[in-house]
Amino acid sequence: MNQTPYDSTVNPLTVNDLAAMKQRGEKITCLTAYDASFSALIDKAGVDMMLVGDSLGMVIQGHDTTLPVTINDMVYHTRCVSNARRRAFIIADLPFMSYSTPVVAAKNAAKLMQIGGAQMVKLEGPRIDVVSFLTEQGIPVCGHLGLLPQLINQLGDYKVQGKKPADAEKIIADAHLLQQAGAALLVLECVPAALAGEISAQLNIPVIGIGAGVDCDGQVLVLYDALNIGTLKRPRFSKNFMQDAVSIEAAIHAFHQAVKQSQFPSTEHSF
Ligand code: KIV
Repeated sequence: MNQTPYDSTVNPLTVNDLAAMKQRGEKITCLTAYDASFSALIDKAGVDMMLVGDSLGMVIQGHDTTLPVTINDMVYHTRCVSNARRRAFIIADLPFMSYSTPVVAAKNAAKLMQIGGAQMVKLEGPRIDVVSFLTEQGIPVCGHLGLLPQLINQLGDYKVQGKKPADAEKIIADAHLLQQAGAALLVLECVPAALAGEISAQLNIPVIGIGAGVDCDGQVLVLYDALNIGTLKRPRFSKNFMQDAVSIEAAIHAFHQAVKQSQFPSTEHSF
């Protein structure tokens, strides 16, 4: 690898850059990252954001769910990713039970930002109290609605959310509440494309979809699904970008281009 980990001529993207991309209709690209080598490759391909997701519990640690992931795991992997980042915006997940109260959330978010180098933290569900408090403390927050993997033991299985009108209305209402509470970004996971398109059009903040159709403001995929190197079955909404690529770099670039040109996700990868 001939890329230096730090390049003073490139400025990392900011929340303002992401908001401006939504304003001008430019799709935002995001892949999960968990280590320095993939961080460098993703960054070099021009991908706009890297999410240090608690999906690392499944794809790195080999657990069945994201629940065993600790805040120390998240801080460690976020630091690995931010060490090799030049331009991409870095979001880190607050793992299960690390935001049980606003104060607990603030302490853990501070670790992700001060030690890990994250620019924003993501948390699952309509935790309006936590989002308001973090925002007041100057911590940028990304909400996460639709399928919430940290609630798997309540949900029972990983299925599409918001199919019934009442469930869709609740997701729309929660999205507005999160925006009002100060969330600067929203991830929508596994919801019908029409619902995600409606929410993206209604909100001022960028909406990033995963299994949520092409009309979101951007797309995120779990890197190991996109490269088809996971040990678990690839979800229907994901795509194997290695299929037509000669290298990992080419596959990451293909994802970036397909999202920018609204070619991914197609209906085959949407609900
Ligand atoms: O942990 C993760 O990778 C995520 C994505 C599925 C959005 O939260």
